[in-house]
Amino acid sequence: MKGIVLAGGSGSRLYPMTAAVTKQLLPIYDKPMIYYPVATLMLAGIRDILLISTPRDVERYVELFGDGSRWGLNISYAVQPSPDGIAQAFLIGRDFLAGEPAALVLGDNLFFGSGLSRRLVHAAELTEGAHIFACRVDDPQRYGVVELDAEQRPLSIVEKPRHPASNWAVTGLYFYDGRASEIAADLVPSARGELEISDLNARYLKEGSLTVERLGRGFAWLDTGTPETLMAATQFVCALETRQGIKIACLEEIALAQGFITADAFARLAAGAPVSPYGRYLKTLLADLEIEASPVPLRVVGARGR
Ligand code: G1P
Repeated sequence: MKGIVLAGGSGSRLYPMTAAVTKQLLPIYDKPMIYYPVATLMLAGIRDILLISTPRDVERYVELFGDGSRWGLNISYAVQPSPDGIAQAFLIGRDFLAGEPAALVLGDNLFFGSGLSRRLVHAAELTEGAHIFACRVDDPQRYGVVELDAEQRPLSIVEKPRHPASNWAVTGLYFYDGRASEIAADLVPSARGELEISDLNARYLKEGSLTVERLGRGFAWLDTGTPETLMAATQFVCALETRQGIKIACLEEIALAQGFITADAFARLAAGAPVSPYGRYLKTLLADLEIEASPVPLRVVGARGR
């Protein structure tokens, strides 16, 4: 399966933070926002990634990620000339996908939870139909909203409904079979002039091939479109990382765990990382690896003064 990260939009709700910096490069605590959705694709086992951004910002992403080979990824880039809707990603990404199944993740969505990787890997096995995730929210009017029957089968999907049929928001992570580009090409712009992802989902729903997976209480789904939600995401990541001494969306760590890079490649990344909490974390992981690899248990983790 291939992956698309859509990092377009003007970020107007975050103005003036976004006057000179694109929204998805703003920090969520200790790393750029875009790290989180890229990590989500990596956890799903996806290595071929198309990053779509605005003509103004695409170069910034190239600077950040390059070709992605550092993390064992193959990242290419495309431009969305104007914010004409999320489903347009499948028109822009048509050649990249070449009829293969695809996962699309929005550049401002953060997912966290126990067992998430397993669910993502499972979703990435999809070859027919579409699979989306729904999360309970208090303000469904802001999202695509899915109505489910007693068996969790979707009944309807409506984009930003004035009178939501449920509190289940469709998250910004979507899995499709190889027909997504073809179906997207047949969509017409909505009243707000966008090719709506909810309309693409509604097509799959209509043919009975859309499945919806609820992310329940053990999961955090955060989006970061307003100053308040950006702050909430930062506080969430900060609280978890400082309490547990782990990092969320550490691309090097995920690349190693997924087998995208070798231990030697990881060691080079850790050794070359600048001095920062992130760099120190990589060095800590490296030290742990060396202990594990050591034939004689020279040191024990607890003895390193952590
Ligand atoms: C978009 C989608 C919406 C989805 C949301 C998730 O909304 O159109 O269906 O629920 O992302 O983040 P937007 O953020 O563009 O308002």
